[in-house]
Amino acid sequence: MLAATNNKHKLIELKAILSTLGIELKSMSEAGVRVEPEETGTTFAENAKIKAMALYEATGQASVADDSGLAVDALDGAPGVYSARYGGEGLDDAGRTALLLKNLSDVPKGRRGAKFVSAICAVLDDGSLIEVEGEVRGELLFEPDGTDGFGYDPIFYCPELGCSFARALPEEKNRVSHRARALEAFAAEYKKRIETNDHE
Ligand code: IMP
Repeated sequence: MLAATNNKHKLIELKAILSTLGIELKSMSEAGVRVEPEETGTTFAENAKIKAMALYEATGQASVADDSGLAVDALDGAPGVYSARYGGEGLDDAGRTALLLKNLSDVPKGRRGAKFVSAICAVLDDGSLIEVEGEVRGELLFEPDGTDGFGYDPIFYCPELGCSFARALPEEKNRVSHRARALEAFAAEYKKRIETNDHE
């Protein structure tokens, strides 16, 4: 199966879980293809589908895509599908995190709820779709804490782990993260499909 991403963090997580299902995942660069459709969807699910369909149509091979981001309660779900582009192209992860903290400077503790969401869409060999989502809720800190992870991890306090995602060990984050949960849902649905096909 091909993965519609070259983000190495996502690839590692996707490969680890999909290998337990006997699926060998290849990145676009490993497969020698490059497909970058415009992410015009207004939801994570729409964007995941756009990316998976574009890769399937370009290669004729089963393809999977993830679209994810951070939805902040006090900002009505922003940055949401714009998480990777928050503040414009010129910013890096630290710049986007600083901008978000600035935009939340008036929001007190107790009203800083947020969630990471991951939508996964796979187009299987026969063209049928599997679409699932996972999320993890937390609180946004007032300043970055920790240096591991990526993106908004340093400002996302996860109550289940008792620390920010950037302070958690990778295996701890992978136990509770939005992407891990979406992948669990994906695994369950994939197994169901295989069983149904075997019985037909
Ligand atoms: P995507 O590549 O369009 O799915 O963009 C996802 C963006 O959301 C990333 O660039 C990060 O800013 C943010 N994001 C998604 N998942 C995570 C995570 O696990 N930790 C921190 N930031 C994340």
